[in-house]
Amino acid sequence: MAPRAPRTPRVDPADVDRELAGAALGELVGAALVLDEQLRIRVASPAAAALLGSEVPLGASAATLLCGDRPKRPFAEALAAGLPFQAVIPHPSMTTHAGQVRARSVPLAEGGGWLVFLAAVEGGDGEPVLFHRMWTRDARMKETFRIIEKVAAEDVTVLVRGETGTGKELVAHALHALSPRRAGPFRAINCAALPGPLLESELFGHVKGAFTGAVKDTPGHVELAHGGTLFLDEVAEVPLELQAKLLRMLESRTIVPVGGRDPIPVDVRIVSATHRALRDEVEAGRFRADLMYRLRVIPVRLPALRERPADILLLADKLIVELNARGRRQITGIAPSAGAALERHEWPGNVRELRNVLAYAFAIGDGPTLELRDLPPEIAAIEPASAEVVVASAEAARGDESSELQRIREALARTGGNRDRAAKLLGWSRVTLWRRMRTHGLA
Ligand SMILES: Nc1ncnc2c1ncn2[C@@H]1O[C@H](COP(=O)(O)OP(=O)(O)O)[C@@H](O)[C@H]1O
Ligand SMILES: [Mg+2]
Repeated sequence: MAPRAPRTPRVDPADVDRELAGAALGELVGAALVLDEQLRIRVASPAAAALLGSEVPLGASAATLLCGDRPKRPFAEALAAGLPFQAVIPHPSMTTHAGQVRARSVPLAEGGGWLVFLAAVEGGDGEPVLFHRMWTRDARMKETFRIIEKVAAEDVTVLVRGETGTGKELVAHALHALSPRRAGPFRAINCAALPGPLLESELFGHVKGAFTGAVKDTPGHVELAHGGTLFLDEVAEVPLELQAKLLRMLESRTIVPVGGRDPIPVDVRIVSATHRALRDEVEAGRFRADLMYRLRVIPVRLPALRERPADILLLADKLIVELNARGRRQITGIAPSAGAALERHEWPGNVRELRNVLAYAFAIGDGPTLELRDLPPEIAAIEPASAEVVVASAEAARGDESSELQRIREALARTGGNRDRAAKLLGWSRVTLWRRMRTHGLA
């Protein structure tokens, strides 16, 4: 056995500690940095170095390393303001990398330090493309567009899956517009909006006398879509009995109106959509497996907006152009704080929600810049306290500081110096309290 090499006296034990801490961090969470309260990098995992493509200089400023001196640095701004933040930023060494990095900061208790998670964004850096009223930079979306183009000409059924507001109906329109049926009708029906019997009559029509009030033969959406495309939105909500009839229509290419006897031949292309996993519905016994296979010959999945964060500001820009055309307000730029708030929001309602938020901003605000204060409170705030800091910081700079200092002192006095309870009294998080205390020289 070779004797162990003696440790050279030059190695600083603190460096060894940092290296071990970095390795441990890497094992636990992959690419990550630990920052101290001055935003200096104290620990870096090996994966962070690999992602950033260089040694991570310990002690250097994280804001500078990650954001350089770019004019828009929402991530650096949020760190400096003491706000937890998530953003997709251009890769710090743009000379060697074309990609983007997703960075997320999590405050470390009391001490004021930060844990910053880093992850490469696949294809997030793509060029914006417009496809049938859909804008994207996202590689998966572009792949979806390619599939749509390929299958549009066939009559194959397409099932679009995506959360509300992700563009499912736009996809259905694109499929129709690219098909030989484009001169024919496009009809959409929301299967979640009507109870079973009404839905059946809406889809397949009814004959005179089929039920009270059926005063004449009335064609349904299927017949009205003859020669064109029928979009079945929220198809997972079709009741089981009606699913059997849909299946029969797809197999026989005929329908029988409610109260009728003779099948009517129909020529429609079916595009359907759902926000659910149809397979789960099948497993739960709520959806027929045979119908699922018929409907989703080509499955298409639209990622949620939060899964393609590089699209948020792109879509905001495009929607602003559209809203500018209405003429009430002309917005030519987005304030960094407003852009950061848009990027940070989760967007459960996806592009539809983004459009509504911007329409709100057009109605609420004035001037050529979309400001943070133009956004609805739930978008502008990460947590009420932090938003208050952002909004208040301008006023604070103008001399509101003394009253805040007084409030902090009072809260601490009332709680006997207990910061947890003082923060609660002030309606702030512990971290916010600590940061405000630091601003006033109390911590
Ligand atoms: N990629 C996109 N680019 C531009 N606008 C979009 C995009 N995706 C959705 N929209 C817009 O968002 C709104 C919701 O789209 P829609 O197709 O109705 O979504 P879904 O059917 O999935 O609920 C519409 O106003 C639509 O024009
Ligand atoms: Mg829809």
